[in-house]
Amino acid sequence: THQWRGIIEEYRDRLPVAADAPVVTLLEGGTPLVPAQLLSERTGCDVYLKVEGANPTGSFKDRGMTMAISQAKQEGAQAVICASTGNTSASAAAYAVRAGMVCAVLVPQGKIALGKMGQALVHGSRILQVDGNFDDCLELARALSEKYPVALVNSVNPARIEGQKTAAFEIVDALGDAPDVHILPVGNAGNITAYWKGYREYAADGAATRKPRMWGFQASGSAPIVNGAPVRHPQTIATAIRIGNPASWQYAVAARDESGGLIEAVTDRQILSAYRLLAAKEGVFVEPASAASVAGLLKAADEGKVDPGQRIVCTVTGNGLKDPDWAVAGAPQPVTVPVDADAAASQLGLA
Ligand code: F0G
Repeated sequence: THQWRGIIEEYRDRLPVAADAPVVTLLEGGTPLVPAQLLSERTGCDVYLKVEGANPTGSFKDRGMTMAISQAKQEGAQAVICASTGNTSASAAAYAVRAGMVCAVLVPQGKIALGKMGQALVHGSRILQVDGNFDDCLELARALSEKYPVALVNSVNPARIEGQKTAAFEIVDALGDAPDVHILPVGNAGNITAYWKGYREYAADGAATRKPRMWGFQASGSAPIVNGAPVRHPQTIATAIRIGNPASWQYAVAARDESGGLIEAVTDRQILSAYRLLAAKEGVFVEPASAASVAGLLKAADEGKVDPGQRIVCTVTGNGLKDPDWAVAGAPQPVTVPVDADAAASQLGLA
């Protein structure tokens, strides 16, 4: 019998971890790479979904957090801090529990999904709602970590990128080689940086014969990389990627240019439509920000930019349960019936 051991043990030889360093893990990674039937039909390609919502705290952040918190533990840190649109804080809170550390999180007031707030709370982190957006939170978190004894676990911490690159390894391990195109949502731009690093490393030592083109999608109201300038007041219903000045901006641009890829914007309407399609036609429930990758694929296909016959992977970054409001909004209220088979059958259209 074999249980997945978490990304540090599974990819130890490709990660900067000392043999005797502590490993703080919730056995993250090893997530499903699900063939997407409808998306494949629509595009004439073999489309796969890398379902990162299947990680222990429901997002890809766990891959980076096992690395960052393990490193903080090794360095003797007693407290960690992060700025977050919700998922980083949920992950940091859980891994800090495993490490016996205090976790402080800074979130933009009123702009994080309820499920993520619930995670940070139930894991016992110290939450400050900041009167500002994510970019303000990150500035504050950096300042605190410089001045006070608290380790910063945002993706500006290189350990985070190292952990997150393992998703690219898993995809190549599953497919036998890199895909033609890899698509993902872009917020603070750490994840596109991490995947590109992973694909480059595998190609460099022969574990893959090639590298994919990297396609990133931002929400149109929060698209600084697409606009070429920071966005002072980023807006989007996809709160996870409501970011106006990404920390890894230059690395995202490098991933795009070195891979012959693109970074474009999708509207909230396109994001919600992809969100509903994923749930209703693929059986995969993701949070709105995650659907930006698929919205981007559909947009590119509509524009004739997707040649058939390619192998395409879309990362869907977070679990739909994080932000269920969007699943309920606009859906019809369920009908109430008595405990009566005929009445229930007639409501179901069976009778
Ligand atoms: N998708 C989800 C669900 C996210 O939570 C994030 C980022 C992204 C995509 C974008 O990834 O920042 O590496 O480009 N969430 C961060 C957070 C900002 O605080 O949880 P990125």
